[in-house]
Amino acid sequence: MEENKDNNISRRGFLKTATLAGAAMSLPFGLNKVFGAETGMTSLFSENNDASDALPVRTLGSGKAAFDVSALGFGVMGMTYNRSYHPDKKQCIRLLHQAVDRGVTLFDTAIIYGPISNELLAGEALSEYKNKINVTTKFGHEVIDGKSTGRQDSRPATVRQYCEDSLRRLRIDSIPMFYQHRFDPKTPIEEVASTISDLIKEGKIQRWGMCEVGLDVIRKAHAVCPLTAIQSEYHLMHRLVEENGILDICKELGIGFVPYSPINRGFLGGTLNEYTQFDTTNDNRQTLPRFQPDAMRANTRILNIIQHFGHTRGMTSSQVALGWLMQKAPWVVPIPGTTKLSHLDENLNTLTFNCSPEEWKSLEDEVATIAVVGDRYNAEQQRQVGY
Ligand SMILES: NC(=O)c1ccc[n+]([C@@H]2O[C@H](COP(=O)([O-])OP(=O)(O)OC[C@H]3O[C@@H](n4cnc5c(N)ncnc54)[C@H](OP(=O)(O)O)[C@@H]3O)[C@@H](O)[C@H]2O)c1
Repeated sequence: MEENKDNNISRRGFLKTATLAGAAMSLPFGLNKVFGAETGMTSLFSENNDASDALPVRTLGSGKAAFDVSALGFGVMGMTYNRSYHPDKKQCIRLLHQAVDRGVTLFDTAIIYGPISNELLAGEALSEYKNKINVTTKFGHEVIDGKSTGRQDSRPATVRQYCEDSLRRLRIDSIPMFYQHRFDPKTPIEEVASTISDLIKEGKIQRWGMCEVGLDVIRKAHAVCPLTAIQSEYHLMHRLVEENGILDICKELGIGFVPYSPINRGFLGGTLNEYTQFDTTNDNRQTLPRFQPDAMRANTRILNIIQHFGHTRGMTSSQVALGWLMQKAPWVVPIPGTTKLSHLDENLNTLTFNCSPEEWKSLEDEVATIAVVGDRYNAEQQRQVGY
């Protein structure tokens, strides 16, 4: 799969680029917008904030399952769930609109986030843009009367019911991509894939993906109904998908990859430390071994390396974290979450930097010399992961 470098080239932006930059240079991550001559930085935003041509496009999946989306997406989860304190609904809606204005076309939510409240927020904020952006959502975790039961349920009737419920909450006629959030050991994956195939034929959904599943399941699922994307945790402090063959199988089968928690749930942004107080009622980080004070203190050594790499290149640690992911393959589309415009802009501005493969390799090699302290999940959450 090749990055769609030709998409969205604005003639006005191109001319301005040529004038300001003066000389030809390789455009970072397929970026094609206006350059600031003095800094070598690129402004991502066209003068009228026209979302239709503001960000480069990447393609997740291939063939009939192909999905063109902005090179960086937006994870909506933390606006209502698991990320402690969040702004009120009005401000969240405004920020989501600002993301649309800046050209983000991929927004990620799930039934379990809240539960339900996150889909409702995404529906209220984003349905008016349904013809130009995409909200992807996820089924699998059982939710009864608005509460999580902790069980998985991907039986055909449940998937159908959840699809109808998500369509209603998202206020759309067809879900651009419906992920299975976690593997359901009681429902054969072929049965899930076949239900999805029927839903695609009926126009209720357009594509599908899976989260945190193993190679065998991916092969079986893809054979019944081609997958557009695998969404699993991936960042500089968690590189399992490089080791367990997930990225390789995505490349082999032409499936896209969406790294979730790409800033390691905020840690790689450099604003969390051993003294951080998480909201005890609405933040799963306090339950994760990697976010215990001792682990955060030890892991600060990794953050320091990333910050140092960024300091010498004018990048923040979040930008280094996102840039490192994006250079892995043109079919990788991270979905960082934020509640702040300043962080949204910072994250999108990752697309303005370019480092050589050798620089990224030296960064990952240096980071790899330090063992990460603390597991990413507790035992219960790890049990739900399909490998
Ligand atoms: N499939 C799955 O199982 C699964 C699991 C988890 C998450 N997800 C998806 O992945 C998305 C993102 O994951 P996530 O929220 O866990 O992790 P993340 O994107 O790695 O981190 C989000 C956290 O980082 C902070 N942040 C964002 N930009 C920053 C910046 N430039 N500088 C400093 N801090 C920054 C945010 O705080 P501020 O609000 O202060 O910016 C927020 O608390 C979710 O919204 C969800 O859609 C999927």
